[in-house]
Amino acid sequence: MRISQQSIQQITQTADIVEVVSDFVTLKKRGANYAALSPFTNEKSASFYVSPSKQIFKCFSTTKGGDAIKFVMELDKLTYVEALKYLAKKYNIEIIYDKVENEDLDKAAQSERDSLYIIMEYAKNYYKNILVNHPDGKAIGKTYFTERGINDKTITDFELGFALDGWDNLIKDAEKNQFSLELLQKSGVIKNSENNKTFDFFRNRVMYPIHNLTGKTIALAGRILGSDKGTAKYLNSPETDLFKKSEILYGLFQAKQSIRSMDVCLLVEGYMDVLSLYQAGITNAVASAGTALTESQIKLIARYTKNVTVLYDGDKAGIKAAIRSTDLLLDSGLNIKVLIFPDGEDPDSYVNKVGSTEFINFLEKNSKDFISFKTEILLKDVSGDPIKKAEVIHEIVISISKIRDDIQRTLYLKMCSQMLDIDEQVIVSEYNKIKLGEIKKKQVEADKNEQLPTDDQIKENENSKDSLIFLYPLDSNSLAEQEIVRILLEYAEEQMDEDKNVCQFLFSYLENIQFEDPVFLQIIEVFKTELKENKLPTLNYFINFPDKIFEERLTTLLTDKHNLSDVWFDKYQIYVPKKDNDRTGLVNKSLARLNFEKLRKRLKENDIKLRNVSFENIEETDNLLQENIVVKQYQQMYAKELGMIISG
Ligand code: UTP
Ligand code: MN
Repeated sequence: MRISQQSIQQITQTADIVEVVSDFVTLKKRGANYAALSPFTNEKSASFYVSPSKQIFKCFSTTKGGDAIKFVMELDKLTYVEALKYLAKKYNIEIIYDKVENEDLDKAAQSERDSLYIIMEYAKNYYKNILVNHPDGKAIGKTYFTERGINDKTITDFELGFALDGWDNLIKDAEKNQFSLELLQKSGVIKNSENNKTFDFFRNRVMYPIHNLTGKTIALAGRILGSDKGTAKYLNSPETDLFKKSEILYGLFQAKQSIRSMDVCLLVEGYMDVLSLYQAGITNAVASAGTALTESQIKLIARYTKNVTVLYDGDKAGIKAAIRSTDLLLDSGLNIKVLIFPDGEDPDSYVNKVGSTEFINFLEKNSKDFISFKTEILLKDVSGDPIKKAEVIHEIVISISKIRDDIQRTLYLKMCSQMLDIDEQVIVSEYNKIKLGEIKKKQVEADKNEQLPTDDQIKENENSKDSLIFLYPLDSNSLAEQEIVRILLEYAEEQMDEDKNVCQFLFSYLENIQFEDPVFLQIIEVFKTELKENKLPTLNYFINFPDKIFEERLTTLLTDKHNLSDVWFDKYQIYVPKKDNDRTGLVNKSLARLNFEKLRKRLKENDIKLRNVSFENIEETDNLLQENIVVKQYQQMYAKELGMIISG
């Protein structure tokens, strides 16, 4: 049988691309179109577009594009026919089939995936039916669910079932319905024993179907009825072409609309947690089903919301798991909260104990932002050990460095400094170290990779450079002043040439240069005075300076010295001799840079003056323009020395 042209037409005409896509992706209006994060990649900025007028989608990060049918096919790896059927179901369209001459051939040509879907659908319905209609299903399975507080609606919505006790109940029924045993085996619902006898995989268990995003059953899980220690509590059907455990979140099909409308996803561990919460009206929970959270699962959540609350058991293992997955979640740019239950409780037991109102109360009151959570947990182990404390700081700052939002990140650094009782300066410089490490690593990788970086990579690189934090934001002029000061503090007494040390050498050029930064100006003045008496100030002299700002500035300056050179390079593409080995080069470049900045400033000031000079004052205007020409020539000279190209 083949879907008739007439039906295909009806489906394509009815299906609205915006509605179809909205079931999977959160769309935002952008002019006449809609934009979203691509469901096909892990992107951070929206490059996925839907045009309602043209009824097409276009994904610029994967170049995928097409109509509603194509979208469903791409998203769920469906065949054309499967996609048509999915849309027909969504829009309640009854499909009319054409009779085909050679139907058997057609059947044989069905892909294995198609067959697996059919088998899983069959098995799910079989178990579902037993739970509702079979006397044992009702007496054993239904009773089990009832005892755990699961009602009929939840059973229907999650298509729960029951597998009878016995070795071949499913096999017999499948044979009666002419299903191929080979396929049943492939799907994992029946197994082959060593002496080549087939048997049912699930026996005497309550059954939980696992759905994909379109609501199709792709796997089954079965739970033993009691708490028999001898057998696995849950059996899960094996991975197949349809089912990759790490790419599925249990309950997402049922929860996705709620997650979107409530704009938060509750992440729990178990099947039972999802069911009990759903039943209590908390319909936005999904389960990672026992395994550690994976990147694909996170991507699934991110399609519907940016906010995740991780709900974990109060035992030690639960907390460890919570910490692990929060880091992974942060990395993906999601906002994370953590909720830990009292010891011995999980979401299922807790909601059953206190009821839904109280549960939601508990959730709202006790959800912690993950940084406070992690800091609190890790601090418990420190107890006055400074080495451990340093490790904890490092750990937490790594987590903070994964937060994408600038303001949030800065706030967390502040908060972390308070919670850990550590100077913010120290936290920030730890943070910058981590960021610079990442930037460098990326650059090394990019260098190894002989290909040109893509636009995305360039953008990301820019972003990570911007993410460096200066507690005292320095403009390029102050940075240039700072480099000179740093050189003075570190190398003042080193010999530059036969008759001059670094300090003497620098000051022979600094005479006409006005330092503006008050802190640097003070340092320069001290050096100048000492130099007149042929002396050099010691570092101690500065460190004991009474001024608080001065002291803090100096600390950054001395601790971040190498990093700052790197920042120079990364931000302004200016060559800084690494490790300061080439002292002459370093001193000359720094002088050139300072001069360059002073001239830039001069040009800026002249521009302002020019704008304010009245037209009649030709002489003044002329002077300024003349001066500009000379200043620019000098600036070019310094630029050349610095290996820069400047325009205009
Ligand atoms: P739990 O042991 O916490 O189970 O495992 P649960 O969901 O709370 O179930 P109940 O309350 O005892 O009925 C959490 C999840 O880990 C997976 C399942 O997905 C389970 O929901 N798991 C656990 C398995 O896959 N196999 C197992 O043997 C145990
Ligand atoms: Mn449980």
